[in-house]
Amino acid sequence: MCGIIGYNGKKPCVDLIYSGLQKLEYRGYDSSGVAVLANDKINLVKQKGKLSHLLPFLGSLPQDASLGMGHTRWATHGVPSTENAHPHGEERVSIVHNGILENYNELKIKLLEKGQRFLSETDSEVIVHLLHDELEVVADVRKAILNIVDKLQGAYALGIMVHDHPDDVYVVKQASPLVIGVGEGENFFASDALALLAHTKKFIFLSDGEIARIGKDGVEIWDFYGAKKEPNIVTVDSSEASLEKGGYRHYMLKEIYEQPTVLANTIQRMVCKDQNSFDEKLLCSDKINLTNIRKVHVVACGTAYYAGMMGKYILEPKLEIPVEVELASEFRYRDSFIDDKTLIIAVTQSGETADTLASIKHAKSKGCKTLAICNVPYSSIPRECDATIYMEAGPEIGVASTKAFTSMVLNFYLLGLAWGQRMGTQSQTQLQNSLESLVKLPSLIEQALSHEALISEIAGSYFEDHHCLFVGRGHQYPIALEGALKLKEISYIHAEGYAGGELKHGPIALIDRSMPVLAIAPPLSDYEKVISNLEEIYAREGRILGLGLADDQKLKALCSHVIPCPFIDDPALQAILCSVPLQLFAYSMAIHRGTDVDQPRNLAKSVTVE
Ligand code: G6P
Repeated sequence: MCGIIGYNGKKPCVDLIYSGLQKLEYRGYDSSGVAVLANDKINLVKQKGKLSHLLPFLGSLPQDASLGMGHTRWATHGVPSTENAHPHGEERVSIVHNGILENYNELKIKLLEKGQRFLSETDSEVIVHLLHDELEVVADVRKAILNIVDKLQGAYALGIMVHDHPDDVYVVKQASPLVIGVGEGENFFASDALALLAHTKKFIFLSDGEIARIGKDGVEIWDFYGAKKEPNIVTVDSSEASLEKGGYRHYMLKEIYEQPTVLANTIQRMVCKDQNSFDEKLLCSDKINLTNIRKVHVVACGTAYYAGMMGKYILEPKLEIPVEVELASEFRYRDSFIDDKTLIIAVTQSGETADTLASIKHAKSKGCKTLAICNVPYSSIPRECDATIYMEAGPEIGVASTKAFTSMVLNFYLLGLAWGQRMGTQSQTQLQNSLESLVKLPSLIEQALSHEALISEIAGSYFEDHHCLFVGRGHQYPIALEGALKLKEISYIHAEGYAGGELKHGPIALIDRSMPVLAIAPPLSDYEKVISNLEEIYAREGRILGLGLADDQKLKALCSHVIPCPFIDDPALQAILCSVPLQLFAYSMAIHRGTDVDQPRNLAKSVTVE
């Protein structure tokens, strides 16, 4: 989704803004622009397409400008084009916007009736005209912004420059992410702290309904009613190095390879040395009394939703209470049966997904307790929830989620163990067995990764196919769904996941030589049933790509190829293991097809609009 970056200081800012935009590329975008206030005017360049298309135009901006802002746009209203790119406005007012104005049409009609001329098809441009008109009657920029904000409905993070107020830039936040970076004699703002880590580690995370004046020497914040607020400056302990590719060809590959370390660190952090208790953070006991909870409802989107499905498979038997899982975009509008004994778990890498955030607000209005499993500190969803389990997986830049997925599942697993122990629904023996398996997980993931070259070779036999079915049973069913999602996201091959038992209820009609079936078949308790499914596909001359033990003769007899996956005697941990070769498979397929792995077309890393 759109990315915003801005600077007010003493340094020349054009390159600084451009390199900030590069750091926001991961969010997904289709056009970009930069505006700086210098030489008594707003100077603007924008272009459709990748940031590299904008680069040749930056030279036309005043290079000594030290106040400016940039934007990467992910089209919502109006096609991707230079006209629709931000910043908008070039005369008195210039704005960048991330979000969607729900009432833009009625505002636009009124503005057109007044004779305003629109240069773009965007919802955002109405803000330029509204502010322009308001400044004719209200000289104080902050007051003028507050007056127009009153008229806006929807989500908006805004950066605003006003040409006759060259000392300040203003930002506004309502339901879209915005953070202020605090420096010495310079200040910044951005959609994501990651874009500013090269300049500062001190941040102010604005809340919804706040406006800030960002000067060179200070930041002032007010709420939408005009009441002044004390800035809360926090230090973010993340390094620039974590944002580099570290020698890997793509962020996605780097993130796949980080999994053994990320998961080992999580286990070490969450399981106490006595191997018999867990970090209190898992139980959020100061915020939520888990022993009062009678039902869990997991809400999430995309990959996080499949991690949530894994959460259901993991938590229900460990806690002996019902666990539902639902897409956040459905849950937020549904009249579900939830109450103060329901725990809503929001699973989210970014902590900013609009539907997940709205789901939490909806659940709170029904009196539910709310817990986030999240990777990004200070993001909106943790700030809205009663408690948060932070994944600490490190920044995930590749649009297709990998380490965040396995980390989410692992955190569900640890939560299940800790909460089950507290409820007495997990015996000491069960707990010991789980912990013994858990410590083996990171090195088994390393083993799974060691087959990358073979997986790439196998992908060479499938990358020209147009479709692929993924099949799994039990805990491996959500992994089949996630495997299919990964493949379609980055290779653009049509892929669907099915539960093995569902094959006969429709998908088997699709089986022929042009429909490969990727079957997840580790030797767990339902192994024979999976093999029966594969016999049925084989009998119909289907092409089967198995995922299981390298020396599984039964599997080999049925499959054209077998992707090797190590075995662990726990279906949930096996699911984590199985997801790793599937990530490598999707990656290899994308490489064979020559697609843009880290920034697949049309997708955004952080979906901050509905
Ligand atoms: C987007 C991303 C997915 C992600 C989903 C949910 O669709 O492309 O990779 O799984 O949003 O994001 P979240 O940050 O809430 O986990």
